[in-house]
Amino acid sequence: MKLISLIIFPVCAWMLSFTLQRTLGQSTLKTFSPDLQFDNYSLILKDQRIFLHSGEFHTFRLPVPSLWPDILDKIKAAGFNAISVYAHMGLINPSPGVMDFDGYRSLSALYEAARLAGLWIVLRPGPYINGETTAGGLPHWVTSQIRSELRTTAADWNAAWTPYIQAIIGQTKQSQISNGGPVIAIQIDNEYDQEEGGPYFAEIEALYRDPQSGIDVPLTHNDPGMLNAFINGTGAVDLYGMDAYPQGLVASNLSIWNPIEMGYHTYHEEANPSQPWYSPEFQSGAFDGWGPDATGYEDWRAVTDADFESVFYLHTWASNAKLVNYYMLYGGTSWGALPYPGVYTSYDYGAAITEARTLTKKYTELKLQGMFLRSSPEFCKTDWIGTTSSNLTEGAIVPTGPPSSPAFVTFLKNFDTGAGFWIVRQNDSTSLALSSFKLNVTTSGGERLTIPLIASSIDLDGRESKVVTTDYAFGSKSRILYSTASIFFAGSIDGIDTLFLYGDSNQEHEVALDLSGNATSTIKNDTHFQLSSNVLPSTTIITVKSGFQGLIPLYESNIQSIFFADKDTVSTFWAPTIAPTNSSDPFANYWSFGTNETVLVGGPYLVRSAVITGTELALRGDLNASNELQGTSLTLIAPTIVHSLTWNGERVSLESTENGSRIRTGRISNTKVSIPVPDLAKAAWKFNDSLPEVQADFDDSDWVVANHTTTNIPFPMYYGDGRILYGCDYGFCENVVLWRGHFNATGSEKSVNLSINGGAAFAASVWLNDKFLNTTFGNSTNNANVIEETDEKFDLPTNALLVGQDNVITIVQDNMGINEAKPVNDDAKSPRGIRGFQLNTGNFTEWKVQGKVGGYANYPDKVRGVLNEGGLFGERQGWHLPGFNTSSWISRNISAGLPSSEAGVGFFVTTFDLSMPKSYDVPMSFTFLEPMGQPYRMYIFVNGWMMGKRVANLG
Ligand SMILES: *[C@@H]1O[C@H](CO)[C@@H](O)[C@H](O)[C@H]1NC(C)=O
Ligand SMILES: *[C@@H]1O[C@H](CO)[C@@H](O)[C@H](O)[C@H]1NC(C)=O
Ligand SMILES: *[C@@H]1O[C@H](CO)[C@@H](O)[C@H](O)[C@H]1NC(C)=O
Ligand SMILES: *[C@@H]1O[C@H](CO)[C@@H](O)[C@H](O)[C@H]1NC(C)=O
Repeated sequence: MKLISLIIFPVCAWMLSFTLQRTLGQSTLKTFSPDLQFDNYSLILKDQRIFLHSGEFHTFRLPVPSLWPDILDKIKAAGFNAISVYAHMGLINPSPGVMDFDGYRSLSALYEAARLAGLWIVLRPGPYINGETTAGGLPHWVTSQIRSELRTTAADWNAAWTPYIQAIIGQTKQSQISNGGPVIAIQIDNEYDQEEGGPYFAEIEALYRDPQSGIDVPLTHNDPGMLNAFINGTGAVDLYGMDAYPQGLVASNLSIWNPIEMGYHTYHEEANPSQPWYSPEFQSGAFDGWGPDATGYEDWRAVTDADFESVFYLHTWASNAKLVNYYMLYGGTSWGALPYPGVYTSYDYGAAITEARTLTKKYTELKLQGMFLRSSPEFCKTDWIGTTSSNLTEGAIVPTGPPSSPAFVTFLKNFDTGAGFWIVRQNDSTSLALSSFKLNVTTSGGERLTIPLIASSIDLDGRESKVVTTDYAFGSKSRILYSTASIFFAGSIDGIDTLFLYGDSNQEHEVALDLSGNATSTIKNDTHFQLSSNVLPSTTIITVKSGFQGLIPLYESNIQSIFFADKDTVSTFWAPTIAPTNSSDPFANYWSFGTNETVLVGGPYLVRSAVITGTELALRGDLNASNELQGTSLTLIAPTIVHSLTWNGERVSLESTENGSRIRTGRISNTKVSIPVPDLAKAAWKFNDSLPEVQADFDDSDWVVANHTTTNIPFPMYYGDGRILYGCDYGFCENVVLWRGHFNATGSEKSVNLSINGGAAFAASVWLNDKFLNTTFGNSTNNANVIEETDEKFDLPTNALLVGQDNVITIVQDNMGINEAKPVNDDAKSPRGIRGFQLNTGNFTEWKVQGKVGGYANYPDKVRGVLNEGGLFGERQGWHLPGFNTSSWISRNISAGLPSSEAGVGFFVTTFDLSMPKSYDVPMSFTFLEPMGQPYRMYIFVNGWMMGKRVANLG
């Protein structure tokens, strides 16, 4: 996603021209393959409607493919059925003519992992992705080798991306749903303007749509707002989508919630009424920039917390969206030179799954939402009937106390089954007060009911949204008349129609239904529950009063099981998909495609999988060892055939609860382990100087001569002598680049002017021979007050000049990444390097440049890839790589810093044995105890991978 300014659109004009455009009965079916269709309601995969419930995950931001299944397990366990992923052209196509899908660049490994997890994939391969990554995902060679404007129909740009998209097609065609794979859509580029990009889009689309390509999934787009881009006309895609960041991306006031955007539904009905409503990026956090004023990801997690998810996500459901992707669900790490200058190393994003892969309260709320969607196939085909403010004749709000307008309701109805979904939130979506009301609805009997009938009200906490259901089906033969309690699970377990309801314990809840079968247990009237069977014909109303905590069976029979839990208790529950054993179905692990079988498990931190073999249920999952060392209690609702249980292979004894309920309990033991954490401040460090370039005897004869006088980078030099000193022109685009300017001194040289471009928050230090002159600093305070280039005069001390000899100005430049490409200019062709050089008198005889060994064309580290290293001497020597022999280095405490009191570059190396206990997943991070403020920079290599950049005065 990218930063966009507020888009003001003519709501009023639309309101006037808008009449309810329900496409009831009017088919807009589009068929891509027998396995993939859509109409105006939803995607239809293998003849089944789905709500595409998806989270964004960039595998390149977790460059360890063996950890991808962990993220996918966690996404699946929250009830999601899809992921959205960017492919990064800059990593896959690092040099002209080179396509590299090895290691973390692999798509096939991701496709297989996703298929095994049971998740669909929307692939977003660009070529341009934005994504807060350097050059917006374009290869750095492109930014200097392509003469024409990028993201246009220019022939040289076309020649640059065509082999990449062909390679993407080659990697993907066998993994489309029509071939038994997970891929269901491919996005064209990202966030573009149609007027500018239409013909360019048409070229990319022609490549995919060429019958030879074998691609048969819909092509999509992600409009950066309600801009009607690529719906009709040149470059139009098959399925339009729009991104939405309602809380904004600039944290000006974290305590304020933005208002709900009311235009989504109307916009969709106007813009693309024949397609289902899709948001390829809906806000799930925000990126964060360099600078002492940066927000920090914990604050972003707070602004987009579980309450935000409740109100804003259910609002997208209320707009009748049927494909939603949350950006980011797992953000990860912008390691190496992945970031563009506007973000630092962590791309945690304040997401529901943290950078360290841990689960948050945001994750729990997503799980509750995801389980409802997974449980509600009737929700996939709804018509938008109206809202409180659009003369909804049904669903009138009946206040039961203050405020007088307690709620806002949107009514969605499935006309095939009659199911009604009443999405309620507070009328003032930002209100923190409680509100209470009843809802005047029509149910299957044709009768108007003002629900709840027995409980005093439907209650909403501050910043809470809910779905009230009417005529809602569960299992094979049961239907609720209405429920003001929320639904966690509705389905079939052991052939029994099973309904698992929940709600806040400080609120009242009510469900009305025809209880059927021979009861084995029925809730008794007491202080918490009331059963009313003579208010409505052949319907029982079960009321849950406030104050109940825990899990309780409301009713169990040989036909139905109805459970209720308070919100804290239900939050510990999981419903893993149980695939048929030995199935040859490639979609065996996909909920509702390969299987509808599950068990409900409460207690553990995470349940990843469940398998039933004979009478044994084997669960795999995680416990939270930091607070559950006394053991974790487990609650199980499973088929009666299950007599024994294992947890990660260890036997857990199961006990029945009273009253013949299906609920059983167990206890998983946990042994306390001690996790040794190395104290790096006290570790034995070896040190070596990494700036021999300023020594008199340094030989730069094998460096590249910087003598170009033309460039494709469309930003002119400011001053100099015609030589162009842009690093990318010589193959050195990212991380540290060193420059050496030679001149013969006459003795009258007093100063040198240098204009240095490194991107927001960059820095560069300058030496005359071995004499340090000064450091020049860019700036960024969370993407404000950005200085990406400086122009300064450096005084030359007379006593450092070697009169009559060769003198050298050495510049060590720390590049912060390449700018993202704006649609209308070529920002991605950033002129990183020296844009001006001038001695007060005389000229430079020669300029030399050195970045990472081999530059982008011949870099040796094919495993970590083109963005890992820079050009520091130690990096060129491989000092950052594991196994490098440092025995001849001196010992030096890291807290002692560099030996020189002025400036320099040094390498500190230490080794340690983590020896983590087996089967523990231990999140680890570097913690800096030093206060921010000192203007030095640090690259942190872990086993050769550049996993973090610290700018000690900027973050
Ligand atoms: C695109 O075309 C469809 C079909 O004619 C129309 O309903 C829709 O309003 C158009 N959308 C835009 C943004 O022009
Ligand atoms: C809603 O109903 C009111 C009162 O009947 C009427 O004045 C108004 O025009 C209606 N609005 C719409 C959008 O139909
Ligand atoms: C519910 O709506 C119906 C139809 O508009 C109306 O007759 C009835 O009075 C309403 N009930 C309440 C309690 O508002
Ligand atoms: C309930 O039990 C009775 C007696 O065993 C049996 O005849 C009847 O079919 C059962 N009803 C259901 C719905 O299972």
